Amino acid sequence: MAQNTPQTRVTVDKTPLPKVRADLLVLGIYKDTKKLPPALTAVDKAAGQAVSNLLKTGDFTGKADETALLYPLGKFGCRRIMLVGLGDKKSLQINTLRQAAGTAVRAADKIGIARLALALHTLIEKKHDPRLVGQALTEGMIIGRYAYQDYLSEKNDNSKKIKKLSATIIEPKAADALKINAGRKTGIILGQAQNRARSIANKPGNEINPPTLARTARRLAHQFSLRCKVLDEKQLEKLKMNAILAVGSGSVSKPRLIILEYQGRPHPKKSSPPDAVIVGKAITFDSGGISIKPSQKMAAMKFDKSGGCNVLAILTGLAQLKLPLKVLGLIPAAENLPSHTSYRPGDIIRTFCGKTVEIDNTDAEGRLILCDALTYAAQSKPRVILDMATLTGACVVALGEHMAGLFGNNSPLQRKLEKAARISGEKVWLMPSGKEYLDQMKSSIADLKNVGGREGSACSAAAFLGEFVKDTAWAHLDIAGVADTDKEKPFRSAGATGYGVRLLLEYLRSLKIS
Ligand code: BES
Ligand code: ZN
Ligand code: ZN
Repeated sequence: MAQNTPQTRVTVDKTPLPKVRADLLVLGIYKDTKKLPPALTAVDKAAGQAVSNLLKTGDFTGKADETALLYPLGKFGCRRIMLVGLGDKKSLQINTLRQAAGTAVRAADKIGIARLALALHTLIEKKHDPRLVGQALTEGMIIGRYAYQDYLSEKNDNSKKIKKLSATIIEPKAADALKINAGRKTGIILGQAQNRARSIANKPGNEINPPTLARTARRLAHQFSLRCKVLDEKQLEKLKMNAILAVGSGSVSKPRLIILEYQGRPHPKKSSPPDAVIVGKAITFDSGGISIKPSQKMAAMKFDKSGGCNVLAILTGLAQLKLPLKVLGLIPAAENLPSHTSYRPGDIIRTFCGKTVEIDNTDAEGRLILCDALTYAAQSKPRVILDMATLTGACVVALGEHMAGLFGNNSPLQRKLEKAARISGEKVWLMPSGKEYLDQMKSSIADLKNVGGREGSACSAAAFLGEFVKDTAWAHLDIAGVADTDKEKPFRSAGATGYGVRLLLEYLRSLKIS
């Protein structure tokens, strides 16, 4: 079986471009570059004018993700040069470099390159922090080479027998090379964490159900020295976590609450509250339950566990980054199926915190498993609670697959997340929730109902969640539109994206301990 994440060794090297030796040298070029930029004159000369000749033809326009392969003549140390488009010079962001690096390695893998030299950032302006440049390039390569192939036989034509890649980022300036190298180390951890989330989220519903997800969590916890406690259905019953139990009641695979703890504080006190609790929705398959979904696109509902997979991956990332924080990860896991034991429309559930919820639609199950987990999160009195969930189709309609919806009750927290989004390239868009939306969720026969009508339903779903965090600073990310994709891009494969893993790791990296 081929690996989903092929081995990628990333290094930084100070060799000047004309002297670089590799199977392929990758150069980043802005859009509409007609004349060779001065920083590339020497390498172009060494490569027998291969680059300037191509630019003169106008065949390569330099738009983002465009590639062109050149075969330099003469004694140049690289047999191939690849130009990768960086798009508009003015609109270049760190994420442009991340994606360009992904595009480069994917194109390189197609021709079986083993040794690659990367000079994508040579032309970019000095204002960009070299640390972030190194991090983004490294992340882009690790995320770019990922392909889910757990179930592809070696003989299958789609199976990618991608070999080990040794990629060297070229930075002749010593001070910048040092910083790029520091970013490289972070980038490896964040890229791998994201791929870890993708590999679990990509697994199908016949492999991952609540108990097997819990086993996966236990295994990873052991590997990364995290604490892990799993509450099974009996313990959930004892605690009266009736919302999680109701959602999982239709399946033979019973629900679980997976509790992970990363303790990185230098002088830990057992009783000290966590700096953050992160909560992720893990519906291992969402058929809709008795309010069954149409069959079209139902297969994509194996990705309804993405929030939970992200939480698992984020905790492993924290352990590798060795951040001086205490962070709790909560993963409520259930399978939403119709059967004679399922919960039904009209049921009234008494949730873990005592609030009652009238069920209007069993397909609005994410908010139910989350409400019990959020109550549990608030009980630990953390500084912040963050949750990630493929919660609503309405959020997909509102924002498409380009950004996650950001909701919550605390503006400073939202601003920090927006900053982390700019760094990680995992964009968020601030959305409203609050009293008006909460009013939609009121029931005449219970404290709340689980559906508040079609209008603004991503916002009313968020308002519902907000009822379970008490006054803790809280942010909710609706990742329904971004967690998976059926579109392959030049810089990454289709399937689970792991969107949110780097975003939250960046946020947690920015937390100062007190
Ligand atoms: N898991 C879905 C949300 C979803 C939809 C995720 C599309 C990814 C893509 C969620 O459990 C759901 O079914 N929500 C319903 C709620 C409705 C019944 C109030 C929705 O959004 O349609
Ligand atoms: Zn649903
Ligand atoms: Zn769902």
